[in-house]
Amino acid sequence: MNNKLKNDLLLKACRREPTPRTPIWIMRQAGRYLPEYQKVRAKADFLTMCHTPELAAEVTLQPIDIIGVDAAIIFSDILVIPAAMGMPLNFTEGRGPVFEKPLQSAAEIAALRLVEPESDLSSVLDAIKLVKKELDGRVPVIGFAGAPWTLASYMIEGSGSKNFTKIKGLMYSEPDTLLSLLNKLSDAVADLLLAQIKAGADVVQIFDSWAGILTPEYFKKFSMPFLKDVVQKVKKAGVPVILFARDAGHSFPELAEIGADVLSVSWTEDLEQARQAVGSKVGLQGNLDPSALFAPKEVLLRETKNVLQKAGSHPGYIFNLGHGILPKTPVDNAKALVEFVKEESAKMNTQN
Ligand code: CP3
Repeated sequence: MNNKLKNDLLLKACRREPTPRTPIWIMRQAGRYLPEYQKVRAKADFLTMCHTPELAAEVTLQPIDIIGVDAAIIFSDILVIPAAMGMPLNFTEGRGPVFEKPLQSAAEIAALRLVEPESDLSSVLDAIKLVKKELDGRVPVIGFAGAPWTLASYMIEGSGSKNFTKIKGLMYSEPDTLLSLLNKLSDAVADLLLAQIKAGADVVQIFDSWAGILTPEYFKKFSMPFLKDVVQKVKKAGVPVILFARDAGHSFPELAEIGADVLSVSWTEDLEQARQAVGSKVGLQGNLDPSALFAPKEVLLRETKNVLQKAGSHPGYIFNLGHGILPKTPVDNAKALVEFVKEESAKMNTQN
């Protein structure tokens, strides 16, 4: 399937092969900063969009046409897994995702349903098939899922959280109960990613957005083993795996060993130091501060050049932000960023 791609820069970078320029895509590239997204969103609530393949496909394709990125990431959400396990989920305006009944006991964890992606999440898979068809090989499609630790955080806290006292309370007082949830989630995450690959995803990314709330020791006990488990299962399908463990740079040397092809670097970390930590074992992705997109254009481009320089000429590099693009980002700046990375990285490559 991959050899039909007209633009395979992302796949080449994931395999750490040299590319004539640096590929770029943007985490959360399909979203509220785009007026075209708002237009679709005005007609349907967020979860309806996620579960209507035609709408999901439409907004997935928008950033390819509008800002010119080198990959499409399927429009969905990491929380479709807990919802499919039987936890009612609401997205409230201004508050983000909220679970009606957060998990409170070992019995509730034991009662969670096993997820069968082909039946429970068929809308996500159908959206991928539709996007593949409509793209006709223009750019690769990225599938994704949340990491077990990050999903467990939402399921136990019930929403985003400042101090994560509920999940950390469980971690310190009943570690085995938490481990049983993380094991269940590992299976569900791996199965969904494998189903996405079967439906046509060319690359997959795992989002461990809350990795950084753990101490380095507890990250290695309660997140990393499950990341490794998911990566090892998914790797067998033969497509590249990108891992975004936000603010877990303390564990880059260990994360470089779990089998992921690329590590995504947060903006709070230094790209040069990340490269020193991982050597040539994995590719790197990142890590412009999303807020730089609110700066005057010359400042944005200066900061972007700084990121490209820190990435250097090492093969296996994908430009991205250090976290998702923010809702009020000026679209013209997103376009200017993409154009600049394409031109500047091509120049830097010819200079080598
Ligand atoms: O990257 C993409 O363009 C693909 C789509 C995508 C969404 N969510 C769409 C979305 C992806 C990859 C995600 C992942 C996701 N979802 C993460 C991990 C990435 C990260 O940013 O750390 C997390 C933690 C979630 C959970 C989630 N979903 C939150 C906290 C929120 C509310 C905050 C927010 O950004 O609005 C969502 C809602 C959500 N997911 C929106 C979109 C486009 C906004 C929904 C709307 O239109 O109101």
